[in-house]
Order: sequence, then C-alpha cells, then structure tokens
Amino acid sequence: MAIEVAGRLSAQELAACVEPRLLTEIPGPNARRAIDADHEVTSPSLPRAYPFVPSRGAGAMVEDVDGNVFLDFNAGIAVCSTGHAHPKVVKAISRQAEQLLHYSASDFYLPIYAETCRRLDQIAPMSGPTRSFLTNSGTEAVEAAIKLARNHTGRQYLVSFLGSFHGRSYGSVSLTASKATYHEGFGPLLPGVLHAPYGDPAGMGYFQDVLFKRLVKPHEVAAVVVEPILGEGGYVVPPKDWLVALRELCTEHGILFVADEVQSGMGRTGKMWAVEHFGVQPDILLAGKGIASGMPLGAMIARADLMTWGMGAHGSTYGGNPVSCAAALASIDLIEGELAGNAERIGGFLLEGLGIVAAECSLITEVRGLGLMIGVEFESDVVADAVEIACFEQGLLTLRAGDGAIRIAPPLVISRDQAATGLRLFGDACRRVAEKGPNA
Ligand SMILES: Cc1ncc(COP(=O)(O)O)c(C=O)c1O
Repeated sequence: MAIEVAGRLSAQELAACVEPRLLTEIPGPNARRAIDADHEVTSPSLPRAYPFVPSRGAGAMVEDVDGNVFLDFNAGIAVCSTGHAHPKVVKAISRQAEQLLHYSASDFYLPIYAETCRRLDQIAPMSGPTRSFLTNSGTEAVEAAIKLARNHTGRQYLVSFLGSFHGRSYGSVSLTASKATYHEGFGPLLPGVLHAPYGDPAGMGYFQDVLFKRLVKPHEVAAVVVEPILGEGGYVVPPKDWLVALRELCTEHGILFVADEVQSGMGRTGKMWAVEHFGVQPDILLAGKGIASGMPLGAMIARADLMTWGMGAHGSTYGGNPVSCAAALASIDLIEGELAGNAERIGGFLLEGLGIVAAECSLITEVRGLGLMIGVEFESDVVADAVEIACFEQGLLTLRAGDGAIRIAPPLVISRDQAATGLRLFGDACRRVAEKGPNA
C-alpha cells in the first residue's frame, strides 16, 4: 500500500531534525488504516508494543505513514546501529545488490562471506584465531552455538540465566527465561537446559550448592550461555566480579562460555562488545541485530579450535547472504571508526540526564546501563507501560523491557542535541504519568 503524504522532508532534513514533528493525532488516520489492514492477515502472536507505523527513517529520526516525525530511542530494537538508512550502508547494499543477490555460501564459496568472517575475527574479543558461522538472525546464531557446543564437547547440558532472552526458536527459547509466555503451550522444550540466577550476589554459590550438587555434574555441561548485559530482561548490568567468576568456573570445568551479544554487541555499550567492559573472553560470541544495520544477519564467532564439526554438520541456505554481508562490512567500519565512541559519549550524557530525571520523579526506582544500552526501572509494569505510551504520544519512541523497565537504545549516530530532546520528552512523560496516574 503506497501512502502519499504532502510536504515530506528530504532524507537530509529528516536526519537533521532535533525535535519530533507531529502533524496529526497519534496514531494518525493512515496509521489506523494500516493497523486495521495488518490485523486482518498477520499472525496474532506478534507482540506489538504500540500503534507506531513507520514509513522511512534517516539517522535517529523516523517518519510514520502520516508524515509525523519521531525521535527514535529504539533503533528498531537495537538493530539500526548506524542509524536509519546510513548513506554508506545503503551504498554498500545497492552496489552488492547490483552484483549478486544470492548464492548459498553453504554449498559454494562467496568471497564476501569469508571477508565478513575475517572482519569479525579482527574485532572478536578473543585473543586467538576465530572462525565464524553466519546466520539470518540472532536466534539462529544461538541455535548454532547450542549445536557446536554439544557437538564439540560431547556433553548435553546447557545452562542459561533467569531473566535472559535468547530467541524464540526451540533451542533458543528453551534457554530464554525472561517471560513464561515464551514457553506457554510449547512444551516439551529442549531437554538438558538448566537455569541459574543472573548476576547472583552470592557469586557462583548457586552453581556449587545447587546446580552441580543436586542437578548435574559439571563435566556433563557443554556450555553456559549468558548475556553480558540483559537485553529483553531489562537492560540489567551484572556485577563485574560475577561475569569474571563465571568465566573462571567455565574454565575450571571445561564448560564453554557463550556470550550472547546479539543485543549488547556492535558498539552499543561504547565498546564493540559488552564483555570488553568486564575483561572477560568468551569461547563463543553471538552477534546479530546491529551487525548489519537492519539487514538480516547473525554470527556465531567461535575460537577456531572449537570448530571441530565436520562438513555438512551445519549450514543455511541464506545465512550470510551477500547483501547482508555488504551491510555488515560497512556497518563495522562505521562503528569501529566513530560510532562506538559516540555511543560512549552520548550514553554518558543520557545516563547523567536520566539520573537527574530520576531524582525528580519518584516513579523511577533505578537508572542503569552502559553506553547507549540504558534501562530505566519504574515502580511497576503499569507505570512503565504508561510512560512508554506518554513518550510515544509526544514523538519519542521507547520500548519496555524486563518487569518494569523502559529500554533506551537509540541508533549510535544520535547527536547530543537529539539526545537532549529525548531526555526532555522522557522527563515530560514521567511527570505526566506522575501527575495524572498511569491509567489516565
Ligand atoms: C540477547 C538476544 N539473543 C537473541 C535474540 C534473538 O534474535 P532474533 O530476534 O534476531 O532472532 C535477541 C533478540 O532480541 C536477543 O536480544
């Protein structure tokens, strides 16, 4: 459905906007029509947050189908790392699209697939050589890690953490433990998956006193799969010592340490990978989301010596398709060159500003995060829902996470002026909910 809106801004004008520009009621008439049409034919399982219907984006701004301009603190759920339609990424994509759209790298040899794996090896947070398996999504990267870990170690058990999210396909959803909804009606899930408390103040006590004592011997555990910062679970940063102790526990028992950086990776936290803040090297690292600025791509990057599986053990028709690889190569250059640094700077500015908002708003119980991966915790889920909607109605896109949090994850290109606008709108939304109550 092509929707015409008069007086649209050029892409450059859109990217340069510092304020949202709302022309209609929210959602507008075109958005409401699009939503009605959508509801007739799409799967009701899709967990829509609020009635936002994007039409195009540039930098940190997105225009909806009514011509309303929003400031994006979501980046398409931490995906559009280099901003919407970064010219260098778009150019790389169109150049590659003119050359070759597809030829399965599983069955033949695609130079750009190998080039992407080489580039990932250069930026991987492991000191030795790595090899990569490319996928279409984060969940497929998780599946690949489960298979490699079991295949390489010959062990069957996997441990992940309460509150974590690893995807929705059968293996990954079995590791996921953020909401029971993800499991409801789908059992039995993958056998051999156990869960432990995340960021446990008791350190590795649960592993020693419960898991390894009562449930499974450590020599039967293939891998521990952990998000260095919880994503969907609420943007929770664990104590530094906890991740270090987990790494040591894995080393002691020959358990593979799998860092799921699908959400926290690609410069979002101000470093290329969140594990770098903790001084921890994983055995396997999973990437997705921001890796290709919105083109479907995921990666399982593993220590080269772990890749002992034989030819045919794993593959994918589309995984690492050349157009996504072109987007990834351009995105990595941009993130490494300047955007991770911008995430650190603007993230610091936002964290400080949100701290001030929190000091003035008793509904906020905590502000936490690293770089542009910031969680604002509210006193209840109802309040967080209300603030999310109040932000939307003022032209600021945010997204709920965890039990009562809102995640702040703008594109890494966001400017200081745009971040300042977002802070003001977020503060206004909190005040509005505080004054009128969450059900107004
Ligand atoms: C940490 C983490 N792992 C895995 C996934 C699954 O990625 P995808 O939705 O691309 O399958 C997500 C998605 O939100 C995620 O945040």
